[in-house]
Amino acid sequence: MGKIYMTACMKGGCAKTVTTYNLAYSLKELGKKVLCVDFDSQANLSTCFGVENPAAVPVTIGHLMMAQIDDDELPGFKEYIRSRNGVDFISSSMMLSAVDAKLRLEMGAEKMLSEILEPLRDRYDAIIIDTAPTLGALNINALAAADEVIITVNPQLLAMMGLQDFIKTVKKIRTRVNDRLSVAGILLTMCDARTNLCKVITEQVRDTFEGQIRIFESWIPNTVKVGESVYYSEPLIEYAPESNATKAYKNLAKELINYEG
Ligand SMILES: Nc1ncnc2c1ncn2[C@@H]1O[C@H](COP(=O)(O)OP(=O)(O)OP(=O)(O)O)[C@@H](O)[C@H]1O
Ligand SMILES: [Mg+2]
Repeated sequence: MGKIYMTACMKGGCAKTVTTYNLAYSLKELGKKVLCVDFDSQANLSTCFGVENPAAVPVTIGHLMMAQIDDDELPGFKEYIRSRNGVDFISSSMMLSAVDAKLRLEMGAEKMLSEILEPLRDRYDAIIIDTAPTLGALNINALAAADEVIITVNPQLLAMMGLQDFIKTVKKIRTRVNDRLSVAGILLTMCDARTNLCKVITEQVRDTFEGQIRIFESWIPNTVKVGESVYYSEPLIEYAPESNATKAYKNLAKELINYEG
């Protein structure tokens, strides 16, 4: 039975999408079968997977959510799961923002994404949901569907702010909606080793969360290779196999798996 992960951070630009994408390929390299779900209407993850025009994809996660809300039958897996270099994905598009608006008018609609993903659990070792930096109805759905949250923190963005509130929300969702939910850990991303900031923020994160939430040993260095690999729609493992960021994402995948025992 596969695990459902969600990458999250309440700030934009904390490398959620880059982490989802590269973690997926690192897990694949360890022999895992992985599905990525783009759950952000910006569709950045879909672009990483080479989707040039997300609006032209016939069945996106937005369509599936609409069908689920309307109690319509979902199409077959083959109509919405695509594959690129050994990793499967479900695209997103702007349509997801219409879903967001619709969800707010529905009662008890926290489990829509969960209901879409549960039938897929048996087919994968890991399902990773990439989310937007907001705490609206969509992310409540993602938290209701996930087993584990990977919180990305970008030290350059005063990323500690808002973290406590988010962790509180995770606890609320666990007691009210999804008792399987836990925080897998905090991942420091876009760290610039030349500055002291990464060290300072890491210590601050440790002081605050030690004994409470795991902080991954792996941290992701800031490197131009990331932007380049996204531009070429290639995972780091293929675009820059020797890059330190590639190694960091490989280690992160191992940490996640070992953690699970
Ligand atoms: N390790 C890194 N080194 C350098 N640049 C990075 C790194 N990780 C991510 N970036 C760049 O930072 C930007 C933000 O990354 P990404 O899109 O993954 O963040 P996000 O948290 O998903 O943002 P959003 O909240 O808008 O969805 C991108 O331009 C990406 O290429
Ligand atoms: Mg993103």
